Amino acid sequence: MGSNSEDNKSNKLWGGRFTEATDAFVARFTASVSFDKRLYQQDIDGSIAHARMLEKVAILTAHELATIVDGLEAIRKDIEAEKFDWSVALEDVHMNIESALTERIGEVGKKLHTGRSRNDQVATDIRLYVRTEIDGIADLLTRLQNAILHLADREADTIMPGFTHLQAAQPVSFGHHMMAWFEMLERDYTRFQDCRKRVNLSPLGAAALAGTSYPIDREYTAELLGFDRPTRNSLDSVSDRDFAIELAAAASILMTHLSRFSEELVLWTSAQFGFVNLPDRFCTGSSIMPQKKNPDVPELVRGKAGRVTGHLVTLLSLMKAQPLAYNKDNQEDKEPLFDLLDTVKDCLFAYAEMLPALSCNQDAMYAAARQGYATATDLADYLVKRGMAFRDAHEVVGKAVARAIEQQKDLAELSLHDLQQFSATIEADVFDVLSLEGSINSRNHLGGTAPVQVKAAIARASAELAKR
Ligand code: ARG
Repeated sequence: MGSNSEDNKSNKLWGGRFTEATDAFVARFTASVSFDKRLYQQDIDGSIAHARMLEKVAILTAHELATIVDGLEAIRKDIEAEKFDWSVALEDVHMNIESALTERIGEVGKKLHTGRSRNDQVATDIRLYVRTEIDGIADLLTRLQNAILHLADREADTIMPGFTHLQAAQPVSFGHHMMAWFEMLERDYTRFQDCRKRVNLSPLGAAALAGTSYPIDREYTAELLGFDRPTRNSLDSVSDRDFAIELAAAASILMTHLSRFSEELVLWTSAQFGFVNLPDRFCTGSSIMPQKKNPDVPELVRGKAGRVTGHLVTLLSLMKAQPLAYNKDNQEDKEPLFDLLDTVKDCLFAYAEMLPALSCNQDAMYAAARQGYATATDLADYLVKRGMAFRDAHEVVGKAVARAIEQQKDLAELSLHDLQQFSATIEADVFDVLSLEGSINSRNHLGGTAPVQVKAAIARASAELAKR
Protein backbone atom coordinates (compact mmCIF):
# COMPACT_ATOMS: atom_id res chain seq x y z
CA MET A 1 0.00 0.00 0.00
CA GLY A 2 1.31 3.41 -0.85
CA SER A 3 0.76 6.63 1.01
CA ASN A 4 -1.69 9.32 0.04
CA SER A 5 -0.47 12.00 -2.25
CA GLU A 6 -1.83 15.53 -2.22
CA ASP A 7 -0.51 16.06 -5.77
CA ASN A 8 -2.95 13.46 -6.94
CA LYS A 9 -5.99 15.26 -5.64
CA SER A 10 -5.31 18.59 -7.26
CA ASN A 11 -4.86 17.03 -10.70
CA LYS A 12 -8.02 14.99 -10.78
CA LEU A 13 -10.81 16.01 -13.14
CA TRP A 14 -13.30 14.51 -10.70
CA GLY A 15 -11.75 15.71 -7.44
CA GLY A 16 -14.58 18.07 -6.41
CA ARG A 17 -16.39 15.85 -3.92
CA PHE A 18 -13.29 14.28 -2.43
CA THR A 19 -11.71 15.39 0.83
CA GLU A 20 -8.88 12.91 0.77
CA ALA A 21 -6.40 12.22 -2.00
CA THR A 22 -6.36 8.85 -3.73
CA ASP A 23 -4.13 6.29 -2.13
CA ALA A 24 -1.02 5.98 -4.28
CA PHE A 25 -1.53 2.25 -4.65
CA VAL A 26 -5.18 2.73 -5.61
CA ALA A 27 -4.17 5.36 -8.14
CA ARG A 28 -1.84 2.88 -9.76
CA PHE A 29 -4.26 -0.02 -9.39
CA THR A 30 -7.17 1.80 -11.00
CA ALA A 31 -5.20 3.56 -13.73
CA SER A 32 -5.35 2.31 -17.30
CA VAL A 33 -3.22 4.88 -19.05
CA SER A 34 -0.26 2.53 -19.40
CA PHE A 35 -2.26 0.49 -21.90
CA ASP A 36 -5.18 2.64 -23.06
CA LYS A 37 -2.91 5.43 -24.30
CA ARG A 38 -2.89 3.33 -27.43
CA LEU A 39 -6.39 4.74 -28.06
CA TYR A 40 -5.16 8.32 -28.36
CA GLN A 41 -5.95 8.72 -32.08
CA GLN A 42 -9.50 7.48 -31.59
CA ASP A 43 -9.90 9.54 -28.42
CA ILE A 44 -8.88 12.71 -30.23
CA ASP A 45 -11.03 11.91 -33.28
CA GLY A 46 -13.99 11.25 -31.00
CA SER A 47 -13.42 14.48 -29.07
CA ILE A 48 -13.20 16.53 -32.25
CA ALA A 49 -16.45 15.03 -33.54
CA HIS A 50 -18.11 15.70 -30.20
CA ALA A 51 -16.87 19.31 -30.21
CA ARG A 52 -18.11 19.86 -33.76
CA MET A 53 -21.50 18.58 -32.72
CA LEU A 54 -21.54 20.89 -29.68
CA GLU A 55 -20.86 23.80 -32.01
CA LYS A 56 -23.58 22.68 -34.41
CA VAL A 57 -26.14 22.75 -31.60
CA ALA A 58 -24.80 26.10 -30.36
CA ILE A 59 -23.26 24.88 -27.10
CA LEU A 60 -19.83 25.98 -28.32
CA THR A 61 -19.13 29.05 -30.42
CA ALA A 62 -17.27 28.69 -33.70
CA HIS A 63 -14.25 30.28 -32.07
CA GLU A 64 -14.33 27.92 -29.10
CA LEU A 65 -14.59 24.97 -31.46
CA ALA A 66 -11.59 26.13 -33.48
CA THR A 67 -9.55 26.58 -30.29
CA ILE A 68 -10.46 23.09 -29.07
CA VAL A 69 -9.74 21.43 -32.42
CA ASP A 70 -6.38 23.19 -32.73
CA GLY A 71 -5.50 22.21 -29.18
CA LEU A 72 -6.42 18.58 -29.76
CA GLU A 73 -4.46 18.45 -33.01
CA ALA A 74 -1.43 19.94 -31.26
CA ILE A 75 -1.74 17.25 -28.57
CA ARG A 76 -1.99 14.59 -31.27
CA LYS A 77 1.31 15.83 -32.72
CA ASP A 78 2.96 15.83 -29.32
CA ILE A 79 1.87 12.27 -28.68
CA GLU A 80 3.03 11.16 -32.12
CA ALA A 81 6.39 12.80 -31.47
CA GLU A 82 6.52 11.09 -28.06
CA LYS A 83 6.65 14.49 -26.41
CA PHE A 84 3.50 13.97 -24.38
CA ASP A 85 3.78 13.53 -20.66
CA TRP A 86 1.44 10.68 -19.68
CA SER A 87 0.43 10.79 -16.05
CA VAL A 88 -0.80 7.84 -14.01
CA ALA A 89 -2.43 10.29 -11.61
CA LEU A 90 -4.72 11.26 -14.49
CA GLU A 91 -5.83 7.64 -14.71
CA ASP A 92 -6.56 7.06 -18.36
CA VAL A 93 -6.06 8.28 -21.91
CA HIS A 94 -9.25 10.34 -21.77
CA MET A 95 -8.36 12.42 -18.72
CA ASN A 96 -4.74 12.78 -19.78
CA ILE A 97 -5.74 14.33 -23.07
CA GLU A 98 -8.56 16.44 -21.65
CA SER A 99 -6.40 17.84 -18.94
CA ALA A 100 -3.57 18.56 -21.38
CA LEU A 101 -6.10 20.38 -23.53
CA THR A 102 -7.12 22.72 -20.72
CA GLU A 103 -3.51 23.26 -19.81
CA ARG A 104 -2.80 24.23 -23.39
CA ILE A 105 -5.86 26.32 -24.37
CA GLY A 106 -7.17 27.44 -20.99
CA GLU A 107 -10.76 27.65 -19.72
CA VAL A 108 -12.45 26.71 -22.99
CA GLY A 109 -10.87 23.26 -22.73
CA LYS A 110 -13.17 22.58 -19.77
CA LYS A 111 -16.20 22.83 -22.06
CA LEU A 112 -15.27 19.82 -24.19
CA HIS A 113 -16.76 17.28 -21.80
CA THR A 114 -20.22 18.91 -21.93
CA GLY A 115 -22.88 16.28 -22.59
CA ARG A 116 -20.37 13.47 -22.55
CA SER A 117 -18.98 10.91 -20.10
CA ARG A 118 -15.90 8.77 -20.19
CA ASN A 119 -18.34 5.89 -20.41
CA ASP A 120 -19.62 6.74 -23.88
CA GLN A 121 -16.21 8.13 -24.75
CA VAL A 122 -14.34 4.90 -24.08
CA ALA A 123 -17.01 2.83 -25.83
CA THR A 124 -16.61 5.08 -28.87
CA ASP A 125 -12.83 4.88 -28.79
CA ILE A 126 -12.76 1.09 -28.66
CA ARG A 127 -15.27 0.75 -31.46
CA LEU A 128 -13.20 3.07 -33.65
CA TYR A 129 -10.04 1.19 -32.77
CA VAL A 130 -11.57 -2.23 -33.44
CA ARG A 131 -13.02 -1.06 -36.75
CA THR A 132 -9.58 -0.03 -38.01
CA GLU A 133 -8.08 -3.27 -36.78
CA ILE A 134 -10.76 -5.35 -38.52
CA ASP A 135 -9.89 -3.59 -41.77
CA GLY A 136 -6.21 -4.37 -41.21
CA ILE A 137 -7.01 -8.01 -40.50
CA ALA A 138 -9.17 -8.16 -43.63
CA ASP A 139 -6.26 -6.91 -45.76
CA LEU A 140 -3.89 -9.47 -44.27
CA LEU A 141 -6.44 -12.24 -44.73
CA THR A 142 -6.81 -11.26 -48.38
CA ARG A 143 -3.04 -11.34 -48.81
CA LEU A 144 -2.86 -14.76 -47.27
CA GLN A 145 -5.76 -16.05 -49.34
CA ASN A 146 -4.05 -14.81 -52.49
CA ALA A 147 -0.88 -16.61 -51.46
CA ILE A 148 -2.89 -19.81 -51.00
CA LEU A 149 -4.47 -19.42 -54.44
CA HIS A 150 -1.06 -19.10 -56.06
CA LEU A 151 0.24 -22.14 -54.26
CA ALA A 152 -2.90 -24.15 -55.09
CA ASP A 153 -2.63 -23.17 -58.74
CA ARG A 154 1.05 -24.08 -58.91
CA GLU A 155 0.41 -27.47 -57.29
CA ALA A 156 -3.01 -28.37 -58.67
CA ASP A 157 -1.56 -31.49 -60.33
CA THR A 158 0.60 -32.49 -57.38
CA ILE A 159 -0.68 -35.68 -55.81
CA MET A 160 -0.50 -36.32 -52.09
CA PRO A 161 -2.22 -38.78 -49.78
CA GLY A 162 -5.38 -37.33 -48.29
CA PHE A 163 -5.83 -38.36 -44.68
CA THR A 164 -8.55 -39.32 -42.27
CA HIS A 165 -7.45 -40.23 -38.74
CA LEU A 166 -4.00 -39.25 -40.05
CA GLN A 167 -4.03 -42.54 -41.98
CA ALA A 168 -3.66 -42.36 -45.75
CA ALA A 169 -7.22 -42.39 -47.05
CA GLN A 170 -7.49 -41.39 -50.70
CA PRO A 171 -5.18 -39.51 -53.01
CA VAL A 172 -5.90 -35.81 -53.38
CA SER A 173 -4.43 -32.89 -55.25
CA PHE A 174 -2.15 -30.74 -53.07
CA GLY A 175 -3.88 -27.74 -54.64
CA HIS A 176 -7.20 -29.15 -53.47
CA HIS A 177 -5.82 -29.48 -49.96
CA MET A 178 -4.70 -25.84 -50.09
CA MET A 179 -8.14 -24.78 -51.25
CA ALA A 180 -9.60 -26.33 -48.12
CA TRP A 181 -7.54 -23.78 -46.18
CA PHE A 182 -8.77 -21.07 -48.50
CA GLU A 183 -12.38 -21.95 -47.66
CA MET A 184 -11.71 -21.77 -43.92
CA LEU A 185 -10.09 -18.37 -44.25
CA GLU A 186 -12.93 -17.22 -46.47
CA ARG A 187 -15.38 -17.97 -43.67
CA ASP A 188 -13.08 -16.13 -41.27
CA TYR A 189 -13.10 -13.13 -43.57
CA THR A 190 -16.89 -13.02 -43.65
CA ARG A 191 -17.07 -13.49 -39.88
CA PHE A 192 -14.90 -10.40 -39.35
CA GLN A 193 -16.99 -8.44 -41.85
CA ASP A 194 -20.15 -9.50 -40.10
CA CYS A 195 -18.72 -8.48 -36.73
CA ARG A 196 -17.75 -5.11 -38.23
CA LYS A 197 -21.43 -4.29 -38.81
CA ARG A 198 -22.11 -4.47 -35.09
CA VAL A 199 -18.86 -2.69 -34.23
CA ASN A 200 -19.57 0.26 -36.46
CA LEU A 201 -22.27 1.95 -34.36
CA SER A 202 -21.85 5.14 -32.38
CA PRO A 203 -22.43 5.06 -28.61
CA LEU A 204 -21.51 8.75 -28.33
CA GLY A 205 -24.31 10.68 -26.64
CA ALA A 206 -25.23 7.91 -24.21
CA ALA A 207 -23.13 9.94 -21.75
CA ALA A 208 -22.74 8.21 -18.36
CA LEU A 209 -25.69 5.87 -18.87
CA ALA A 210 -28.96 7.76 -19.31
CA GLY A 211 -28.23 10.22 -22.09
CA THR A 212 -27.86 13.93 -21.53
CA SER A 213 -30.07 16.97 -21.04
CA TYR A 214 -28.26 18.92 -23.77
CA PRO A 215 -29.82 19.08 -27.24
CA ILE A 216 -27.18 16.82 -28.76
CA ASP A 217 -27.20 15.51 -32.33
CA ARG A 218 -26.13 11.87 -32.21
CA GLU A 219 -26.62 11.29 -35.94
CA TYR A 220 -24.13 14.04 -36.63
CA THR A 221 -21.33 12.62 -34.46
CA ALA A 222 -22.04 9.16 -35.86
CA GLU A 223 -21.68 10.51 -39.37
CA LEU A 224 -18.53 12.49 -38.60
CA LEU A 225 -16.87 9.37 -37.22
CA GLY A 226 -17.93 7.15 -40.12
CA PHE A 227 -20.29 5.05 -38.01
CA ASP A 228 -23.29 3.53 -39.77
CA ARG A 229 -25.69 4.95 -37.18
CA PRO A 230 -25.95 5.71 -33.47
CA THR A 231 -26.68 2.88 -31.02
CA ARG A 232 -30.27 2.83 -29.76
CA ASN A 233 -30.23 2.54 -26.00
CA SER A 234 -28.03 4.62 -23.73
CA LEU A 235 -27.65 1.97 -21.01
CA ASP A 236 -26.71 -0.67 -23.52
CA SER A 237 -24.39 1.74 -25.35
CA VAL A 238 -22.04 2.20 -22.40
CA SER A 239 -22.09 -1.38 -21.21
CA ASP A 240 -22.13 -3.41 -24.41
CA ARG A 241 -18.88 -5.22 -25.13
CA ASP A 242 -20.49 -7.90 -27.30
CA PHE A 243 -18.62 -6.53 -30.26
CA ALA A 244 -15.32 -7.20 -28.52
CA ILE A 245 -16.42 -10.72 -27.59
CA GLU A 246 -17.57 -11.38 -31.13
CA LEU A 247 -14.30 -10.12 -32.45
CA ALA A 248 -12.42 -12.36 -30.04
CA ALA A 249 -14.57 -15.30 -31.13
CA ALA A 250 -13.87 -14.61 -34.80
CA ALA A 251 -10.20 -14.26 -33.94
CA SER A 252 -10.19 -17.51 -31.97
CA ILE A 253 -11.76 -19.43 -34.84
CA LEU A 254 -9.26 -17.92 -37.26
CA MET A 255 -6.41 -18.84 -34.92
CA THR A 256 -7.81 -22.35 -34.60
CA HIS A 257 -7.60 -22.61 -38.38
CA LEU A 258 -4.06 -21.28 -38.47
CA SER A 259 -3.17 -23.65 -35.68
CA ARG A 260 -4.45 -26.65 -37.64
CA PHE A 261 -2.62 -25.40 -40.72
CA SER A 262 0.50 -25.07 -38.57
CA GLU A 263 0.13 -28.59 -37.28
CA GLU A 264 0.12 -29.86 -40.87
CA LEU A 265 3.18 -27.82 -41.75
CA VAL A 266 4.99 -29.13 -38.69
CA LEU A 267 4.16 -32.70 -39.71
CA TRP A 268 4.86 -32.19 -43.39
CA THR A 269 8.26 -30.59 -42.84
CA SER A 270 9.41 -33.48 -40.64
CA ALA A 271 11.81 -36.03 -42.11
CA GLN A 272 9.11 -38.66 -41.64
CA PHE A 273 6.72 -36.90 -44.03
CA GLY A 274 9.11 -34.70 -46.02
CA PHE A 275 6.23 -33.26 -48.08
CA VAL A 276 7.22 -29.59 -48.00
CA ASN A 277 10.13 -27.30 -47.23
CA LEU A 278 9.84 -24.03 -45.41
CA PRO A 279 12.29 -21.30 -46.33
CA ASP A 280 15.30 -21.18 -44.00
CA ARG A 281 14.44 -17.66 -42.95
CA PHE A 282 11.26 -18.97 -41.33
CA CYS A 283 13.01 -21.67 -39.35
CA THR A 284 15.63 -21.87 -36.63
CA GLY A 285 18.28 -24.37 -35.68
CA SER A 286 19.19 -26.14 -32.51
CA SER A 287 22.11 -25.12 -30.33
CA ILE A 288 23.04 -28.76 -29.74
CA MET A 289 21.80 -30.77 -32.73
CA PRO A 290 23.49 -29.54 -35.90
CA GLN A 291 21.07 -31.29 -38.27
CA LYS A 292 17.98 -29.51 -36.99
CA LYS A 293 15.83 -27.05 -38.91
CA ASN A 294 12.82 -26.38 -36.76
CA PRO A 295 9.48 -25.04 -38.04
CA ASP A 296 9.30 -22.42 -35.27
CA VAL A 297 6.93 -20.06 -37.01
CA PRO A 298 4.13 -22.60 -37.48
CA GLU A 299 4.77 -23.95 -34.00
CA LEU A 300 4.46 -20.51 -32.47
CA VAL A 301 1.30 -19.76 -34.42
CA ARG A 302 -0.12 -23.02 -33.07
CA GLY A 303 0.83 -21.91 -29.56
CA LYS A 304 -0.59 -18.44 -29.99
CA ALA A 305 -3.98 -19.90 -30.83
CA GLY A 306 -4.24 -20.83 -27.15
CA ARG A 307 -3.39 -17.31 -26.13
CA VAL A 308 -6.11 -15.79 -28.32
CA THR A 309 -8.75 -18.26 -27.18
CA GLY A 310 -7.70 -17.40 -23.62
CA HIS A 311 -8.52 -13.77 -24.33
CA LEU A 312 -11.97 -14.76 -25.59
CA VAL A 313 -12.59 -16.55 -22.31
CA THR A 314 -11.28 -13.52 -20.40
CA LEU A 315 -13.74 -11.22 -22.15
CA LEU A 316 -16.68 -13.55 -21.65
CA SER A 317 -15.84 -13.96 -17.97
CA LEU A 318 -15.39 -10.22 -17.59
CA MET A 319 -18.92 -9.53 -18.76
CA LYS A 320 -20.89 -12.40 -17.32
CA ALA A 321 -21.87 -10.93 -13.96
CA GLN A 322 -22.00 -7.24 -14.72
CA PRO A 323 -25.19 -5.40 -13.85
CA LEU A 324 -26.15 -2.52 -16.12
CA ALA A 325 -24.68 -0.15 -17.00
CA TYR A 326 -20.97 0.77 -17.02
CA ASN A 327 -18.72 -0.88 -14.45
CA LYS A 328 -15.03 -0.41 -13.91
CA ASP A 329 -14.58 -4.09 -14.75
CA ASN A 330 -14.81 -2.98 -18.37
CA GLN A 331 -11.43 -1.38 -18.14
CA GLU A 332 -10.08 -4.93 -18.16
CA ASP A 333 -11.31 -5.43 -21.73
CA LYS A 334 -8.43 -3.57 -23.31
CA GLU A 335 -5.34 -5.65 -22.67
CA PRO A 336 -6.85 -8.92 -23.94
CA LEU A 337 -8.40 -7.08 -26.86
CA PHE A 338 -5.19 -5.35 -27.89
CA ASP A 339 -3.12 -8.45 -27.42
CA LEU A 340 -5.41 -10.65 -29.46
CA LEU A 341 -5.48 -8.13 -32.29
CA ASP A 342 -1.68 -7.82 -32.28
CA THR A 343 -1.31 -11.58 -32.17
CA VAL A 344 -3.74 -12.26 -35.00
CA LYS A 345 -2.10 -9.68 -37.23
CA ASP A 346 1.38 -11.07 -36.56
CA CYS A 347 0.26 -14.61 -37.32
CA LEU A 348 -1.50 -13.61 -40.53
CA PHE A 349 1.54 -11.62 -41.59
CA ALA A 350 3.84 -14.56 -40.90
CA TYR A 351 1.67 -16.87 -42.97
CA ALA A 352 1.26 -14.41 -45.84
CA GLU A 353 5.06 -14.08 -46.02
CA MET A 354 5.86 -17.75 -45.51
CA LEU A 355 3.47 -19.50 -47.89
CA PRO A 356 4.74 -18.06 -51.19
CA ALA A 357 8.18 -19.41 -50.25
CA LEU A 358 6.92 -22.90 -49.42
CA SER A 359 8.23 -25.58 -51.77
CA CYS A 360 6.74 -29.00 -52.35
CA ASN A 361 8.51 -32.34 -52.63
CA GLN A 362 6.20 -33.78 -55.27
CA ASP A 363 8.06 -37.10 -55.35
CA ALA A 364 7.77 -37.65 -51.62
CA MET A 365 4.06 -36.90 -51.65
CA TYR A 366 3.52 -39.16 -54.63
CA ALA A 367 5.42 -42.00 -53.01
CA ALA A 368 3.46 -41.57 -49.79
CA ALA A 369 0.19 -41.63 -51.70
CA ARG A 370 1.22 -44.92 -53.30
CA GLN A 371 2.16 -46.48 -49.99
CA GLY A 372 -1.08 -46.20 -48.11
CA TYR A 373 -3.43 -48.23 -50.36
CA ALA A 374 -5.09 -44.93 -51.07
CA THR A 375 -6.81 -46.25 -54.20
CA ALA A 376 -8.61 -49.09 -52.42
CA THR A 377 -11.91 -47.18 -52.64
CA ASP A 378 -11.34 -46.78 -56.36
CA LEU A 379 -11.02 -50.55 -56.74
CA ALA A 380 -14.26 -51.05 -54.80
CA ASP A 381 -16.01 -48.48 -57.00
CA TYR A 382 -14.65 -50.30 -60.08
CA LEU A 383 -16.24 -53.53 -58.90
CA VAL A 384 -19.54 -51.79 -58.12
CA LYS A 385 -19.62 -50.35 -61.63
CA ARG A 386 -19.33 -53.96 -62.83
CA GLY A 387 -22.40 -55.04 -60.89
CA MET A 388 -21.11 -55.96 -57.43
CA ALA A 389 -22.90 -54.54 -54.36
CA PHE A 390 -20.74 -51.96 -52.55
CA ARG A 391 -20.55 -53.94 -49.29
CA ASP A 392 -19.35 -57.02 -51.15
CA ALA A 393 -16.86 -54.94 -53.09
CA HIS A 394 -15.60 -53.46 -49.79
CA GLU A 395 -14.97 -57.00 -48.49
CA VAL A 396 -13.26 -58.14 -51.67
CA VAL A 397 -10.94 -55.14 -51.75
CA GLY A 398 -10.16 -55.57 -48.07
CA LYS A 399 -8.85 -59.04 -48.89
CA ALA A 400 -6.86 -57.72 -51.84
CA VAL A 401 -5.26 -55.09 -49.56
CA ALA A 402 -4.36 -57.81 -47.04
CA ARG A 403 -2.69 -59.78 -49.84
CA ALA A 404 -0.80 -56.71 -51.01
CA ILE A 405 0.40 -55.98 -47.48
CA GLU A 406 1.58 -59.58 -47.24
CA GLN A 407 3.56 -59.18 -50.45
CA GLN A 408 4.72 -55.68 -49.42
CA LYS A 409 3.28 -54.23 -52.59
CA ASP A 410 0.90 -51.47 -53.56
CA LEU A 411 -2.46 -52.52 -55.05
CA ALA A 412 -1.33 -51.29 -58.46
CA GLU A 413 1.71 -53.57 -58.20
CA LEU A 414 -0.34 -56.77 -57.87
CA SER A 415 -0.56 -58.68 -61.14
CA LEU A 416 -3.82 -58.90 -63.05
CA HIS A 417 -3.78 -62.61 -62.28
CA ASP A 418 -3.47 -61.88 -58.54
CA LEU A 419 -6.30 -59.38 -58.65
CA GLN A 420 -8.56 -61.75 -60.56
CA GLN A 421 -8.30 -64.18 -57.63
CA PHE A 422 -10.50 -61.75 -55.71
CA SER A 423 -13.04 -61.15 -58.48
CA ALA A 424 -13.31 -62.61 -61.94
CA THR A 425 -14.85 -59.36 -63.22
CA ILE A 426 -11.52 -57.56 -62.90
CA GLU A 427 -9.87 -56.83 -66.25
CA ALA A 428 -6.75 -55.04 -67.44
CA ASP A 429 -8.48 -51.63 -67.33
CA VAL A 430 -8.42 -51.91 -63.52
CA PHE A 431 -4.96 -50.39 -63.58
CA ASP A 432 -6.45 -47.11 -64.83
CA VAL A 433 -8.41 -46.71 -61.60
CA LEU A 434 -5.60 -48.01 -59.42
CA SER A 435 -3.28 -45.26 -60.59
CA LEU A 436 -3.18 -42.15 -58.45
CA GLU A 437 -3.86 -39.95 -61.46
CA GLY A 438 -6.87 -42.05 -62.42
CA SER A 439 -8.16 -41.84 -58.87
CA ILE A 440 -8.02 -38.06 -58.52
CA ASN A 441 -9.19 -37.36 -62.08
CA SER A 442 -12.27 -39.48 -61.52
CA ARG A 443 -13.51 -37.23 -58.68
CA ASN A 444 -14.63 -34.74 -61.21
CA HIS A 445 -17.53 -32.78 -59.76
CA LEU A 446 -18.07 -29.57 -57.84
CA GLY A 447 -15.88 -29.72 -54.73
CA GLY A 448 -14.02 -32.85 -55.90
CA THR A 449 -10.26 -33.25 -56.08
CA ALA A 450 -9.88 -33.68 -59.87
CA PRO A 451 -7.31 -31.06 -60.95
CA VAL A 452 -9.78 -29.56 -63.43
CA GLN A 453 -12.17 -28.96 -60.53
CA VAL A 454 -9.36 -27.52 -58.42
CA LYS A 455 -8.53 -25.09 -61.23
CA ALA A 456 -12.20 -24.13 -61.50
CA ALA A 457 -12.36 -23.55 -57.74
CA ILE A 458 -9.26 -21.36 -57.93
CA ALA A 459 -10.76 -19.34 -60.78
CA ARG A 460 -13.98 -18.77 -58.83
CA ALA A 461 -12.06 -17.80 -55.71
CA SER A 462 -9.80 -15.37 -57.60
CA ALA A 463 -12.84 -13.68 -59.09
CA GLU A 464 -14.31 -13.32 -55.58
CA LEU A 465 -11.09 -11.89 -54.14
CA ALA A 466 -10.82 -9.41 -57.00
CA LYS A 467 -14.16 -7.91 -55.89
CA ARG A 468 -12.88 -6.98 -52.43
N1 ARG B 1 -10.58 3.90 -18.20
C1 ARG B 1 -11.96 3.61 -18.24
C2 ARG B 1 -12.19 2.32 -19.02
O1 ARG B 1 -11.31 1.86 -19.61
C3 ARG B 1 -12.71 4.73 -18.86
C4 ARG B 1 -14.10 4.85 -18.40
C5 ARG B 1 -14.13 5.17 -16.94
N2 ARG B 1 -15.40 5.60 -16.50
C6 ARG B 1 -15.64 5.74 -15.21
N3 ARG B 1 -16.77 6.17 -14.88
N4 ARG B 1 -14.74 5.41 -14.30
O2 ARG B 1 -13.26 1.75 -19.03
